[in-house]
Amino acid sequence: MPRRATFDSEYYERFYGDDPVHTRGKVAHLASAVHSLAQWWDIPVQSVLDIGAGPGYWRDWYAANQPDVEYVSTDVSEHACAEYGHELRDITKWRPSRRFDLVVCHGVLHYLDAKGAEAAIENIAAASHGLLYVEAPTSSDLDNIVDTDSTDMSVTRRTASWYRTRLGRRFEQIGAGLWVARSVGLPLYELERPR
Ligand SMILES: C[S@@+](CC[C@H](N)C(=O)[O-])C[C@H]1O[C@@H](n2cnc3c(N)ncnc32)[C@H](O)[C@@H]1O
Repeated sequence: MPRRATFDSEYYERFYGDDPVHTRGKVAHLASAVHSLAQWWDIPVQSVLDIGAGPGYWRDWYAANQPDVEYVSTDVSEHACAEYGHELRDITKWRPSRRFDLVVCHGVLHYLDAKGAEAAIENIAAASHGLLYVEAPTSSDLDNIVDTDSTDMSVTRRTASWYRTRLGRRFEQIGAGLWVARSVGLPLYELERPR
């Protein structure tokens, strides 16, 4: 079993300090791309829920570039909530009472055990009526893709099919971390989505 991460000041200094897992600039490119793709698909993004927002790079991009978008950022870490300004929420237990146009869950699910991740996916689905952005490294990614110096390796290892099975009950996978709620019925061309 991996050690359970403590999301304290040391954690954010370690993974968002001098050798970050990803930078504010990289997340700005990602947020910009996701927002633009939503417009391309005629899914208006007027509300965003950010789960496990950490240093709040997505929230900051939206505040600077789409200030009229309603943005709710959450985290389970008391430190992150106090330092970066999020609502204190544990996505394994918290089911939002409303839905959002875009839900962001960037680098969070692999910190949860199987029961927690299953509950989190159901809670995410309950909050979604548009796009979902998910990033969670799989066992194969941890073995073959990630930079082991900058990445937290003390996480739960799961296969891509584990995530695809559970997310696929509620969302259709588009690619590049993007999923769309099945209720949207987005008419994607065959070559716009995985087989
Ligand atoms: C790797 S950081 C990702 C931060 C941010 N999303 C990003 O990509 O920059 C993981 C974050 O997930 C949060 N987290 C872990 N378990 C959580 C849970 N059960 N509910 C909400 N947030 C959680 C942690 O507190 C931490 O801030």
